[in-house]
Amino acid sequence: DETGKGQYDHFMLKEIHTQPTSLQKTIEGRIDADEHVTDLDVDLDLTDIDTVHLVGCGTSYHAALFGSSILNRCDVSARAIRASEYDVNTGTPPENTLFVAVTQSGETADTLQALRQASDVGASTLAVTNVVQSTAAREADEPLYIRAGPEIGVAATKTFSSQAVMLTMLSQHIARVNETATRVNNVGQLLSDLRALPSAVDRILQSSDAAGLAQEHLDKNAYFFIGRGLGCSVAKEGALKFKEITYEHAEGFASGELKHGPLALVTERTPVFAVCADDCDKTVTNAKEAQTRGAPIVAVSPPSHKIVDTADAHLSVPDMHPVCSNLLANVQLQLLSYYCATELDRAIDKPRNLAKSVTVE
Ligand code: G6P
Repeated sequence: DETGKGQYDHFMLKEIHTQPTSLQKTIEGRIDADEHVTDLDVDLDLTDIDTVHLVGCGTSYHAALFGSSILNRCDVSARAIRASEYDVNTGTPPENTLFVAVTQSGETADTLQALRQASDVGASTLAVTNVVQSTAAREADEPLYIRAGPEIGVAATKTFSSQAVMLTMLSQHIARVNETATRVNNVGQLLSDLRALPSAVDRILQSSDAAGLAQEHLDKNAYFFIGRGLGCSVAKEGALKFKEITYEHAEGFASGELKHGPLALVTERTPVFAVCADDCDKTVTNAKEAQTRGAPIVAVSPPSHKIVDTADAHLSVPDMHPVCSNLLANVQLQLLSYYCATELDRAIDKPRNLAKSVTVE
């Protein structure tokens, strides 16, 4: 039953556990047997795109950040921009801009406002959305549906994973058709690992230590999440999820920023979750700086990564293409937030003061 909680205590837990299926649906028919991204049924000429603006709010903004990192790795100029800042921070989009609205609901006022602004100056527009025939889907030149199924929990989980995968596939489609783009490193491995991602998520769900770890990390002063590149978007999303449902103070930022301010807050009562699913020697150094000040370090990384030797605790992810390992790190952090929030007896599916979709600017 798509609309009930089924065997789960909360919609959020159900939605976390539905990710193998929702990701399967996101990917279905979009990567062919030769490990190529198909044309995604997008009837837009992307060959001459000079720059991509990925725009969203909250969790969708973090998916946009994730997508922009991948596009940049393919030498496609791309920026993730907070929809609420689009009018003040972007100027007139250059000619040949592709604007991608990233919005689960397709109804977020800030995102729609930015979409209209970009359309008005002639940008090509796509809506990466979950809701068929939503306003964003109708107003963009083309919708790209993530097919994650209904998401009831206010804190977005499965839709982040599906948006990130959709944007990864879009990036590889652009990289293939765009004349100035290059392919991401190990593109073959990326696409075959994407196909294996649903079962890898399933294995994380069966084996995660997040519930036990949550019990050891309650009642702290603040929670920091750090990462680099793709891991930075995952760290930001991890912190957002954590604050949304636990009501505890959490911050996510680029690992290298720790020493430029947040370190002043670091004590033995501020756990640091270090996302290390990618090239991240610098994150190890940054995590050690926090550890020296007494902070417990939790590595979210493949078991063989050297950060595990330093860390006080570990949430394991398989060693796959960085896109996939980082998305699996995010699943571990979803579980961590969920179990901390249940220990604290929070209103998991309907956190105070928050709405699933914000239709005012
Ligand atoms: C609200 C929700 C967030 C969500 C954001 C964007 O703030 O509480 O969970 O990420 O809106 O929503 P959208 O539907 O545009 O993805």
